[in-house]
Amino acid sequence: SEPFENGANPKQEQLGKFTTDNNGEFLTTDQGLKINDDQNSLKTGERGATLLEDFILREKITHFDHERIPERIVHARGSGAHGVFELYKPMGKYTKAKFLNNTSIKTPVFARFSTVAGFRGSTDVPRDVRGFAVKFYTEEGNYDLVGNNMPVFFIQDATKFPDLVHAVKPEPHNEIPQAASAHDTFWDFISLMPEAMHNVMWLMSDRAIPRSLRTMEGFGIHTFRFINDEGKSHFVKFHWKPKQGVLGLAWDEAQRIAGKDTDFHRRDLWEAIDEGHFPEWELGVQIVPQEDEHKYPFDLLDPTKLIPEEIIPVEIIGKMTLNRNPDNFFAETEQIAFHPGHLVPGIDFTNDPLLQGRLFSYTDTQISRLGGPNFHEIPINKSIPEVTNNQRDGMHRMQIVKGKVSYNPNSMGGGCPFQAKIAEGGFNSFEERIDSKKIRMRSNSFFDHFSQPELFYKSMTDNEKRHIQNAFSFELGKVKIVPIRQRMVNMLLEIDEGLAKIVGDNLGLIPAKLPQPITGSIPADGNLEHYHSFKEK
Ligand code: HEM
Repeated sequence: SEPFENGANPKQEQLGKFTTDNNGEFLTTDQGLKINDDQNSLKTGERGATLLEDFILREKITHFDHERIPERIVHARGSGAHGVFELYKPMGKYTKAKFLNNTSIKTPVFARFSTVAGFRGSTDVPRDVRGFAVKFYTEEGNYDLVGNNMPVFFIQDATKFPDLVHAVKPEPHNEIPQAASAHDTFWDFISLMPEAMHNVMWLMSDRAIPRSLRTMEGFGIHTFRFINDEGKSHFVKFHWKPKQGVLGLAWDEAQRIAGKDTDFHRRDLWEAIDEGHFPEWELGVQIVPQEDEHKYPFDLLDPTKLIPEEIIPVEIIGKMTLNRNPDNFFAETEQIAFHPGHLVPGIDFTNDPLLQGRLFSYTDTQISRLGGPNFHEIPINKSIPEVTNNQRDGMHRMQIVKGKVSYNPNSMGGGCPFQAKIAEGGFNSFEERIDSKKIRMRSNSFFDHFSQPELFYKSMTDNEKRHIQNAFSFELGKVKIVPIRQRMVNMLLEIDEGLAKIVGDNLGLIPAKLPQPITGSIPADGNLEHYHSFKEK
């Protein structure tokens, strides 16, 4: 672990090998040929047509023509920075992850914060969830904590993610509106999706318009597992707590800022780091022993639920400091590829059905976003340990692997070594006992959709409550289809009568008790009747 101690930063050293000041004495082509003139194309005479043979012109324009890559399907707009993670106390009791066991290790990190719905060039301050993704470049490989600034998510199963995103994004026929929330399709979907209400309460709160990226909390959302040296599992939820405090904008402020400076958050983060005001977040964990899995009135596998801190306090275990701006936005912030499945020994998944789907989605999308299967070789994505396996070829392969053997097992020598043993740091999936039918449904334990939103609303101060009331009234006021507004007001009645009445008054509607005829599809087992019968049990 030496390269990680004594102030060394192996990731910065590695990136340094790929970094150039680009201040050569001469301008050259991509082939290194010196160029005398790149301001005039080669023509047939002073006033004649341009020649096809002008390879200098062709190369310059061709490269320009291909500068753009697809933006992320979600979280397209983001800002990132380099930093370091320092551990306060060894966590060996719970996890064998090396970077969580040695307090003298400084783990290099890259963090990227993002809005979810807007395009790459959209404003920094819409009402939206924010992504909070951190890549730890550990001595055991890359570990990614790919979270949001809210502790819960809108849906309980990954198969609904395309529906959610299609409802949130601008409508397909006219690509209007850019705003994440203020439109028919978003509220139509939400009004048919009671499980979304907890996240929607957060979305209508001040948390959805942060003052700065530096003043946001971060959450891993799903329940993960810590695995210790003895193979024992504990459930864990991750939290990032900003040392700068948690601050939001007022809605009117956000609207004005959006008009004046679309880069408000990006600029703020960049300037703070540039001026040496390095933002810091403490990493916290809520740990649940394996045997307590069924102890709570909510299911630990349900990503629409949090574990109240009154029940399990957050234990602070370390600190992330962002201390260096990227050298190049595209090379680093844009090309970084996060994935909740980038794990190190000592951290593992649970069966959260939302997390399970994410494990497929990220690499899949990155293969098209970053042009093939070799994006792990892009400098910002490279792990500190050398990559040795039998993968071959593919678009943009950069590593030159010698020898003729690229398979396992082989008797000819060469190729990559046998599998590492667990004792040598090899990854082993947690051996969870499963005895079950193959079945396409959700567990009854996922159907209490309203208790936690109610808890959230009740925990707000009067001012915060007013902001939530105003947000619902404003957003739903933009919805053109009245039955959608009505369904939303009815849904609010399940959370808080006062809230439902105030929003109803503002919209000229009287909240009605659920269940009631609801048009559209409430997904099979998520129907409201089911919810009611579950609650009565
Ligand atoms: C991107 C968080 C659910 C698919 C992202 C990013 C974050 C994030 C932070 C941006 C990463 C970056 O900065 O590059 C979350 C959280 C979720 C969630 C916290 C729920 C707890 C899902 C689900 C799916 C999904 C359910 C799909 C089934 C994607 C995709 C990207 C993305 C395709 C773009 C990745 C890329 O192009 O590199 N997500 N997400 N996410 N997410 Fe999620």
